[in-house]
Amino acid sequence: MTNSFACALVLAGGKGTRMHSDKPKVLKTLLGESMLYYVYNALRPSLGDDIFTIVGYGSSYVEESFSDMKGRFVLQAEQLGTGHALQQGWERIKATGSKYCLVINGDTPLISEAAVKDFLEAVKEDQADLSFVTITPDDPCQFGRVTRNKAGQVTAIVEAKDFDEAVHGPVSGEVNAGIYCLKISAVDGLLSKLTNENKSGEYYITDLVDLAVECGMHVTAVNCGNSIDLMGINNPFELAHAESELRERAAVKLLKSGVTLHNWESVVVGPGVVIEPGVEITGPCEIYGNSVIRRGAVLQSHVRIKDSNIAENALIKAYSHLEDAEVGVNCMVGPYGRLRPGAVLMEDSKVGNFVEMKKAVLGKGAKASHLTYLGDSEIGAGANIGAGTITCNYDGKNKHKTVIGEGAFIGSNSALVAPVIIGKGALIGAGSTITKNVKDGDLGVARGRQVNIPRTSKKS
Ligand code: UD1
Ligand code: CA
Repeated sequence: MTNSFACALVLAGGKGTRMHSDKPKVLKTLLGESMLYYVYNALRPSLGDDIFTIVGYGSSYVEESFSDMKGRFVLQAEQLGTGHALQQGWERIKATGSKYCLVINGDTPLISEAAVKDFLEAVKEDQADLSFVTITPDDPCQFGRVTRNKAGQVTAIVEAKDFDEAVHGPVSGEVNAGIYCLKISAVDGLLSKLTNENKSGEYYITDLVDLAVECGMHVTAVNCGNSIDLMGINNPFELAHAESELRERAAVKLLKSGVTLHNWESVVVGPGVVIEPGVEITGPCEIYGNSVIRRGAVLQSHVRIKDSNIAENALIKAYSHLEDAEVGVNCMVGPYGRLRPGAVLMEDSKVGNFVEMKKAVLGKGAKASHLTYLGDSEIGAGANIGAGTITCNYDGKNKHKTVIGEGAFIGSNSALVAPVIIGKGALIGAGSTITKNVKDGDLGVARGRQVNIPRTSKKS
């Protein structure tokens, strides 16, 4: 879909040196999602699919993280600055046929869908050749400083490093937020004029402002006050601050919608999570990804859930970890339950303490109450899995399946060596190592017989 008014270019090629991490900065997460995830979410409603991204440092990681944006990444092999990044993306931008291009720094994750929409509306009305968003933060030191003439018109953005009061006048406090809207036909002729003659030796996108002013173009700055939403994130402190802001907003939204939160200051909920009114959560607790928590479910403290569905009235007890799992209606998990990808609990089933499940289905009303590993397994309705049961699913090369029939009873401390089928209603004697199938209703016992030997010569 081509939006003829505007396309977008996200600048995400830099390493983010100030983050002191080997990971590209834009993949750093807030509430479990990367900075870029938020930027894309804010852009998509206004710009549709015409969103291109400049990648450079760690480009393969960035591209892998957003397979839905495939074909719209532009490589900036050497990161020579934000102006250079724009130059690399320019041909792709022009090819969209759009009138404008919204350019945004990829390290601005708190930007909202509404802010993008409002900025584009302002540009539509004003028809400026170059517009950009400014803020007036408490501490303007690291940001590009906006200079204006006596009439209040923007004259330039001067990077903090290059700013000299004697030349540029007193600091006004107004700084560049790193969000620009460029009229493509106007800026086309300016790009080749960017130089790297500055303290950083980089090509700055911000130099387009005084170049445009010098050419007599219509340049405007839209000031958004002291908004944390528009602050770029450059270091771990700023990341923590922004994440804490987002966390609080999410918690307040949940409380207002009818979710009960205890220790609400330590309840962390990702932006893609759905929690229905009537859920009760005790912090500290983390819920990430595309998880859905249905009405009446209770999550105790120290629970971590990712990409999982928790059905109505399920109880997840303290210290349980769930990932890619399905928990049915009225189920109980934990304390200390571990549900790994593919774990499915049908309604009324129960997984107790120190039970781990992976690619395993626990049938309706079935129970595995203590100290158990269920991997690559299918457990029938109403089965009872005794303490210490292990499905031995891996032979060193391949994984194999264990099937346990409805109503079967697995005695404690049994090893079920897969592939193996335990029939419906079968009984496995405690301590057995089962390597052969057991028929419906049969008893399977496989262990050394107990021998009691009287001790005749006891030492006194
Ligand atoms: C930039 C602005 C500054 C503004 C601030 C707002 C410039 C020169 N300065 O500074 O005026 O106040 O943002 O947050 O633009 N990037 C590339 N390729 C590169 C270099 C950077 O794609 O060669 C990307 C980065 O990944 C980042 C974005 O551009 O997402 C901004 O770069 P960054 O180094 O964070 O710029 P700031 O110093 O914050
Ligand atoms: Ca930045």
